[in-house]
Amino acid sequence: MEAMKVGLLGLGVVGAGTWHVLNRNAQEIARRAGRGIEVTHVAVRDVAKARSIVGPNMLITDRPEEVVCDPTIEIVVELMGGVTLAYDMVLKAIENGKHVVTANKALLALHGTEIFEAASRKGVMVAFEAAVAGGIPIIKAMREGLTANRIEWVVGIINGTTNYILSEMRTRHLSFAQALSQAQGLGYAEADPTGDVEGIDAAHKLTLLASMAFGIPVQFTGAYIEGISAIEDEDMVQAERLGYRIKLLGITRRRDHGIELRVHPALVPIESLLASVEGPMNAVVVSGDAVGQTLYYGQGAGAEPTASAVVADLVDVTRLHTADPEHRVPHLAFKTNALIDTAILPIDQIVTPYYLRLNVDDQPGVLADISRELAHFRISIESMIQKPTELGGAKLIFLTHQALEADINEAIEAIEKMPFVRSSVMRIRVEALQ
Ligand code: NAP
Ligand code: HSE
Repeated sequence: MEAMKVGLLGLGVVGAGTWHVLNRNAQEIARRAGRGIEVTHVAVRDVAKARSIVGPNMLITDRPEEVVCDPTIEIVVELMGGVTLAYDMVLKAIENGKHVVTANKALLALHGTEIFEAASRKGVMVAFEAAVAGGIPIIKAMREGLTANRIEWVVGIINGTTNYILSEMRTRHLSFAQALSQAQGLGYAEADPTGDVEGIDAAHKLTLLASMAFGIPVQFTGAYIEGISAIEDEDMVQAERLGYRIKLLGITRRRDHGIELRVHPALVPIESLLASVEGPMNAVVVSGDAVGQTLYYGQGAGAEPTASAVVADLVDVTRLHTADPEHRVPHLAFKTNALIDTAILPIDQIVTPYYLRLNVDDQPGVLADISRELAHFRISIESMIQKPTELGGAKLIFLTHQALEADINEAIEAIEKMPFVRSSVMRIRVEALQ
């Protein structure tokens, strides 16, 4: 049988990785897919650079629309990134009846609903295993392996750059700025690291996971997003003392009145598997009513780990493209007409334990006043640490029992107004993984 013809948009980190994996493992891949998978067209900006990677016989263009409009191409692989040209090219490819494989989580988090609807109308597939947690086959697990379950929650370390930074801060006592500069030197973080350190990249991925977990439309704008730039070495040390580690988590959880969708730093119990995920690695825990908790761990980024997921999608599309579209696995795990528009809960409606740290004058009545304020807002203290500070004051660290975020916010506002309080209150949520 003739090889499946593929057009590659982008030949950067992931594009070149995909090219190398497809070529190196061509025979194995053909045996698995039932036919060869051949890249015949590549679109990039720098044609000469691409030529040096793919050799003399490839059609290379700096006009991606030439690839998506070429009648011989059956699958378009979008690996350019961004949400403008990629958006136009993906919709154009779908309109032209081509299947799409993409690693672009930003594109799908912002425009997924429109893209999946367009694909369903045209009867083509949009596969995106590489868009969440790189080489970890979490999409496959959630769309197929866990399909019997009512998913209760998904919690993941889904950004390698921030996990590397937090690991370095904890183990080597680096400041956030020092650890970030190290991550940039190693190529983990971009020159502009905002998307990673402020939690936006993780929120793109979490938005897709939430849709597949709960059968809801893709709703990035509903996500609560908080990054790691405010975390201090002091918090790392105190968290460890309390039996926790700080991780940037993506959390989505089913509640009675809606769905939690949030990315923020969180204390996780030291004995949990997520606490031992270090460096740039990713891990996702999914809790289902039948299976219990399952854990997926691996490299969430990088050329060949991400290419592993892109090529897996290429094989899937090659196997399934002749199947009746009605009988393919739905893009978001649930049939499009069965998606339910369950509300995303505002962050002040979440209920979780909290870590609070502040500096105060060391004088009688301070603890009593703070405890009274917490009690006034229905917040119960689980444990407390007091340490002297260099300036003759005291550092207080509280771990609370479960509390409503709206109550915590009001309590913090009241505490920060107290005359003996010398700092703002550092607040980090706790995730018990239950
Ligand atoms: P990259 O290294 O910056 O590569 C982007 C590629 O797209 C380059 O080959 C570039 O061409 C090409 N390109 C950009 N704009 C173009 C335009 N206007 N016309 C034609 N070609 C254009 O990016 P990447 O790291 O591979 O990431 C690609 C996608 O994968 C992104 O959506 C990213 O979020 C996602 N992803 C990346 C990773 C990772 O580890 N890097 C992991 C998971 C997902 P030139 O080479 O000529 O500049
Ligand atoms: N920037 C991402 C990370 C990799 O640090 O995990 C691409 O998804």
